[in-house]
Amino acid sequence: MSPEKSGPAAVIVLAAGAGTRMKSRTPKILHEIGGRSLVGHALHAARTIRPQELALVVRHERDLVAAHINAVDPAALVVDQDEVPGTGRAVEAALQALDARGPLNGTVVVTYGDVPLLTGQLLAELVASHEAGHNAITVLTAVLDDATGYGRILRAADGSVTGIREHKDATDAERGIREVNSGIYAFDAAVLRDSLAHVTTDNAQGEKYLTDVLGLARAAGGRVAAVVTEDRWQVEGANDRVQLSALGAELNRRTVEAWMRAGVTVVDPATTWIDATVTLDEDVRLLPNIQLHGATTVARDAVVGPDTTLTDVHVGEGARVVRTHGSGATIGAKASVGPFTYLRPGTVLGETGKIGAFYETKNVIIGRGSKLSHLGYAGDAEIGEDTNIGCGNITANYDGEKKHRTVIGSGVRTGSNTVFVAPVQVGDGAYSGAGAVIRSDVPPGALVLSLAKQQNSEGWVLANRPGSISASLAEAAGATTTSSSTPASTEEG
Ligand code: UD1
Ligand code: MG
Repeated sequence: MSPEKSGPAAVIVLAAGAGTRMKSRTPKILHEIGGRSLVGHALHAARTIRPQELALVVRHERDLVAAHINAVDPAALVVDQDEVPGTGRAVEAALQALDARGPLNGTVVVTYGDVPLLTGQLLAELVASHEAGHNAITVLTAVLDDATGYGRILRAADGSVTGIREHKDATDAERGIREVNSGIYAFDAAVLRDSLAHVTTDNAQGEKYLTDVLGLARAAGGRVAAVVTEDRWQVEGANDRVQLSALGAELNRRTVEAWMRAGVTVVDPATTWIDATVTLDEDVRLLPNIQLHGATTVARDAVVGPDTTLTDVHVGEGARVVRTHGSGATIGAKASVGPFTYLRPGTVLGETGKIGAFYETKNVIIGRGSKLSHLGYAGDAEIGEDTNIGCGNITANYDGEKKHRTVIGSGVRTGSNTVFVAPVQVGDGAYSGAGAVIRSDVPPGALVLSLAKQQNSEGWVLANRPGSISASLAEAAGATTTSSSTPASTEEG
């Protein structure tokens, strides 16, 4: 059972099929659920049992698939299947490629690239049962209400497995069998190699069936056994988008349940979507309608949600993230983000800091205790500690061609609507007045003001908007036309 001990000699993942029912330009096994491609899930499960070799058989869209495999599991061996069709041929191709690296001995596991809920744990159970029974072949089976389309498990009167009959080749009586072949097996390498050499394409589909190996091995005196799983989801393939969505929902249900059992509060599991790649600590609280993607991590006592989407975001201990859309960001311990906040990559918010409502941030490092409370944009910037950025502040980081940096010190207080025209630096403890446009560096402790003299044209409304509600209320408040000394303007104030 323990995957640490010694894994099987090899896992072979079959993935040469076309998957036409997806009706997609993307190869079926590259479609994603739970933050991984279907084949990514297959490889992940395979790696869990620590095989000495891992091979993946490709043919349909082989270049796209091979590039993806190289990205997610560079150590996996990509094997091409030739024009001879069938699961038997696919395994034969993999065996030949693996034997070329050194003859395989011991247990060889075969799985599919499109069965995403299969766990390493079930694979480990299959291998353990196979090896404990000294079997030639052990097949993973399930009993289904509707077995249409599947290969049926044939058993002798004593219950022992005698073979597998494909649906298209089966008699009516055999089609009545509800125990089906999952397509997942543990084989003794030598039995597999020898039996495959005798498999033909003489069947209803003209394919080299891997399933024929069972009958051949049994006829040669080998022990053939089955492990029956009660968990049909673990052997279910995704063939079309309806199944893809159902498998995605079930995977998420399992992921959410596992996190709850590990000490995470999930207020509404139905609207909480957590990728298989996310990590959560004990005593995290997840409020309704959130999506946690990629390498996102949430530390103890943090609260996320409602209405939040985080991709590759690290949420610190005790932080609070509400109604936020974030990616590639780090939120410090006890910091606060949201509501209605857009964190873009490179955002780093220090401990107890705050990025408040209607703020967008990108590539900005914000020191401990600093606050950007409302309405603004901070990009390509560095902000020190305990600085308060006023309402509506903007870093003007883009001159139309290049991005420039803004560096703001610690203990700074900026007035509402301050604009930092980068590149620019503001020293520690500096202040800015409302509406300041900071075009050149501000020394520590200075007050920066951008002054344009205020002009009141008295009586302007009575003269230019006679009869309006504004004019009548102004008049009631004591305004007169006589005091107007400036020319009437057509601009509104
Ligand atoms: C196969 C089994 C059947 C089992 C079912 C479970 C055989 C002959 N039949 O049927 O007993 O109940 O799976 O889903 O094995 N593949 C290749 N190369 C090929 C053909 C298939 O790599 O030439 C791969 C496919 O990409 C897929 C897997 O093998 O991942 C199964 O292929 P599929 O055509 O779906 O198998 P079935 O004929 O449905
Ligand atoms: Mg087929």
